Amino acid sequence: MARGEFWLLLSVATSVFATSSRPCASRDFGHGSVVCVCNATYCDEVELLGEVTAGNAVVFTSSKSGRRLERSVLTSSSSSPGNALKYTVNTATKMQTMMGFGAAFTDAVGINLVRLPPAMQDQILSQYFSPSGHGYTIGRVPMASTDFSTHEYSYDDIPLDFDWLHFNLTAEDFLYKIPFISKAIQLTNDSLNLFASPWSAPGWMKPSGHMKGGGSLLGDPSGPYYVSWANYFVKFFEAYHAQGIDFWGLTVQNEPMSGADPNYPWQTMYFSAAMERDFVKNHLGPALKASSLTKDLKTFRAKLQILKDPLAAQYVSGIAMHWYEDWAVPATVLSVTHARHPDYFILATEACTAYLPGQAKPILGDWDRAEQYANDVIQDVENWVSGWVDWNFVLDMQGGPNWVNNTVDSPIIVNADAVEYYKQPMWHALGHFSRFVKPGAVRVELNVSKKNSDLEGVAFLNEDGTKTVVLLNKSLKNSDPITVSDSSSSDNVYSIALEPSSIVTIVFR
Ligand SMILES: *[C@@H]1O[C@H](CO)[C@@H](O)[C@H](O)[C@H]1NC(C)=O
Ligand SMILES: *[C@@H]1O[C@H](CO)[C@@H](O)[C@H](O)[C@H]1NC(C)=O
Ligand SMILES: *[C@@H]1O[C@H](CO)[C@@H](O)[C@H](O)[C@H]1NC(C)=O
Ligand SMILES: *[C@@H]1O[C@H](CO)[C@@H](O)[C@H](O)[C@H]1NC(C)=O
Ligand SMILES: *[C@@H]1O[C@H](CO)[C@@H](O)[C@H](O)[C@H]1NC(C)=O
Ligand SMILES: *[C@@H]1O[C@H](CO)[C@@H](O)[C@H](O)[C@H]1NC(C)=O
Repeated sequence: MARGEFWLLLSVATSVFATSSRPCASRDFGHGSVVCVCNATYCDEVELLGEVTAGNAVVFTSSKSGRRLERSVLTSSSSSPGNALKYTVNTATKMQTMMGFGAAFTDAVGINLVRLPPAMQDQILSQYFSPSGHGYTIGRVPMASTDFSTHEYSYDDIPLDFDWLHFNLTAEDFLYKIPFISKAIQLTNDSLNLFASPWSAPGWMKPSGHMKGGGSLLGDPSGPYYVSWANYFVKFFEAYHAQGIDFWGLTVQNEPMSGADPNYPWQTMYFSAAMERDFVKNHLGPALKASSLTKDLKTFRAKLQILKDPLAAQYVSGIAMHWYEDWAVPATVLSVTHARHPDYFILATEACTAYLPGQAKPILGDWDRAEQYANDVIQDVENWVSGWVDWNFVLDMQGGPNWVNNTVDSPIIVNADAVEYYKQPMWHALGHFSRFVKPGAVRVELNVSKKNSDLEGVAFLNEDGTKTVVLLNKSLKNSDPITVSDSSSSDNVYSIALEPSSIVTIVFR
């Protein structure tokens, strides 16, 4: 299940753009907007939020015209212009508590990181995972290979090894995942919530003999293939634990419906909703509960049928979904899901742009894709999603590597030949949320005086009492100025003119 399954200054306001000591070294590749270029000696730094005092909002702006998370301070006034579009934050109406933002540690990410000098690798990880960077707190880890690997492999390709005597992590884990996950754990001060997802069981467990292509586990649902597959998860968590990496959760199967296609072009495995329910109830849930290492792991999955069966639901904590059908199914179905299952969190576990055939892969400096990211986060969060996890956080100039050419775009693109990497507008779009909406923040009501289809917004109450409002202006038409205020203190009104095609984060008390 995507979503079914992502300046004009008013006289009353003063706005001062502080000059960052490390501004964006912008480069225009001729695709509408710019990227920020980082190399061995230079990388821009986004200014910190700093102290937020009463009557002064801190504003961060990114725009198609080239601003990149530029910080400014806006002083409040006690009235709004008559024609203003008024956004009112109502902290009395609280919705979901946010779990955070994150991305996936695929082989492709690690392969691109190791192509750069160590200092640049550290810098990329720090810009995503340190509290002074994007502050990511969620990491997704594929169990063995995906399409973003260089080949097909599992952790035990020895046929009929039901007891996993030959189970072992692979060179990919040791070279491309573990070092970077470990670093990210340090950067987050041990608060990285990792979850695992398998794409397919070893080929010998499926009718085709391959991880690639669909098909389900062989044999009877109470038979050895199902029993062993559940134990494989425990083996995986034990193997990572031995490397100093502990997990928070797992999804049962990546995109299980794609496994209905026997000719699916990369690794997948089929579970119908009923099969997944029975697998969780009879095998996976009990196997995880039986191990002291895995008994508290959170299991989440899109198959809502699981939740209707109390014996299966006892093992499930949340619901996961990917963004790829967002264009087909409105995000509001998530609100329906939430209304039916209010006790389960909903996590958006994968997203990327350029995933459709024929779409240009990395487009350096494309603003539309930043808008797609911002739009997706806003729509998801408005419909009860409490965490949002990107797909590959680094890819190469072709949008890979990907062994079946299913290349896509990424917020950071590495150009290893030039010893450079490029921070795409998508990177800044995600920062507008992840930097200013910390785990524990609560989404609150945001009312607008008049609907405007070119503007989207979402509001949060942070644990320290500050409020964060993120606004996306997609419009190319003229519209009215806007004001942002809190319904409980109408004396503090912040008037802002949004730039064309811009994203603005406003943090105030
Ligand atoms: C690195 O980037 C800085 C800032 O754009 C630039 O001055 C410098 O020449 C670059 N270094 C290399 C080796 O390209
Ligand atoms: C597991 O795999 C790693 C990396 O390929 C290798 O170094 C190690 O020797 C293997 N361990 C066993 C027990 O096979
Ligand atoms: C890291 O976490 C520990 C334990 O929760 C805490 O005492 C410490 O202040 C944290 N350090 C930073 C830099 O956040
Ligand atoms: C991927 O693309 C390359 C270059 O176009 C081609 O040689 C290769 O056969 C393709 N591989 C797959 C699996 O489609
Ligand atoms: C905000 O809008 C909702 C829906 O239109 C309405 O029910 C609510 O009363 C409004 N809240 C405030 C504070 O205006
Ligand atoms: C949004 O951008 C358009 C130009 O693209 C601008 O005319 C308009 O005033 C902006 N909207 C708001 C509410 O600021």
